[in-house]
Amino acid sequence: MQFIDLAAQQARIRTAIDTRIKAVLDHGHYILGPEVKELEERLCAFTGAQHCITCASGTDALLMPLMAWGIGKGDAVFVPSFTFFATSEEPALLGATPIFVDVDPVTFNMQPDLLAKAIEAVLRQDSSIYPLPKAALNQSLRPRAVIPVDLFGQAAEYENILPLADKHGLLVLEDAAQSFGGSSHGHKTCALGCHAAATSFFPAKPLGCYGDGGAVFTDDEELANLLRSIRVHGKGSDKYDNVRLGLNGRLDTLQAAILLAKMDIFAEEIELRQRVAGWYGDRLDSIPGIVPPSINVANISAWAQYCVILPEGSRAHVMDRLKAQNIPTNIYYPKPQHCLKVFADLGYKPEDMPTALRASQRIMALPFHPYLEESQVETVCLALQEALA
Ligand SMILES: Cc1ncc(COP(=O)(O)O)c(C=O)c1O
Repeated sequence: MQFIDLAAQQARIRTAIDTRIKAVLDHGHYILGPEVKELEERLCAFTGAQHCITCASGTDALLMPLMAWGIGKGDAVFVPSFTFFATSEEPALLGATPIFVDVDPVTFNMQPDLLAKAIEAVLRQDSSIYPLPKAALNQSLRPRAVIPVDLFGQAAEYENILPLADKHGLLVLEDAAQSFGGSSHGHKTCALGCHAAATSFFPAKPLGCYGDGGAVFTDDEELANLLRSIRVHGKGSDKYDNVRLGLNGRLDTLQAAILLAKMDIFAEEIELRQRVAGWYGDRLDSIPGIVPPSINVANISAWAQYCVILPEGSRAHVMDRLKAQNIPTNIYYPKPQHCLKVFADLGYKPEDMPTALRASQRIMALPFHPYLEESQVETVCLALQEALA
């Protein structure tokens, strides 16, 4: 059994992919060719966002808006403590201080009440309100931005985060690397009212290319123009008229071509993902000790990952038992962000973010992709039941 079966998807659309790749080889515009523009228009139509700026990775998609906003030293950027490293890496790379916020014990997304406390703690330089990094105690940091993450495919609580950000003048960057194709309150992720949203087209993502890729979405035209400049070395009127610092952050035309072929079946794949999640949910509900994922009624998850919580101390044994039956599993994420060595200087203690810490010790991802069959879900669930018996 595959953890994510990209070959099954490729078998379905191989002819379309070959045709798209051949078109690029024929016209030869490998950098910012016509497929890039076509894809950006298609992604705008899909999400409802006004501007889409494709780029080289989901990591660059986070970095570029932060660069455009001039985020840097002295700025506090609020990030959840349970996420992939890029969410906290990019503000830190620009010299800002990541302020970690613990997550909700059910959705594992940033908890808005704790965000409110963390903002207050930074403003008052008072870690008795909420745990802060050392840097936030001996200097007055400016709260500038928040990067909520739509973890595992489910949108964060923007209905509560956006008003809070507005009250404090914070910029909101949605990390939708895992949630592309999902929705909340009837709106697609990447168009949920944030100042900008970043997604990833890493091969294993719900919409993945055959290499690295990403995109930024925004309704702000001025920001969109800045992002197009940053994407090409801070270009002005042309690429040799450099007016600001930027990146070589473009999406390859070939990757855009592959994504266009995948877009033809993407909406259907999101539906198939709901069906697979339903099969898992029905069976896991009856296995004592397992906590299946929980999706808010207002949300449709893109199901980038299907993660369950296991009884304390059972994970290594369960993973071994499943592996023995050729059932692959993974851990997202084995360490919360505030416990990473790279952030040791911030001085956080593991128990500062108790929910993220507990999740990192008990979470496990099961095989999940749109082409998983009901019998395979049955096999995984029986193996889990046996392993926990
Ligand atoms: C939550 C989150 N943010 C950002 C990224 C970075 O995306 P990429 O790998 O395309 O740079 C990822 C990718 O794994 C992610 O899961």
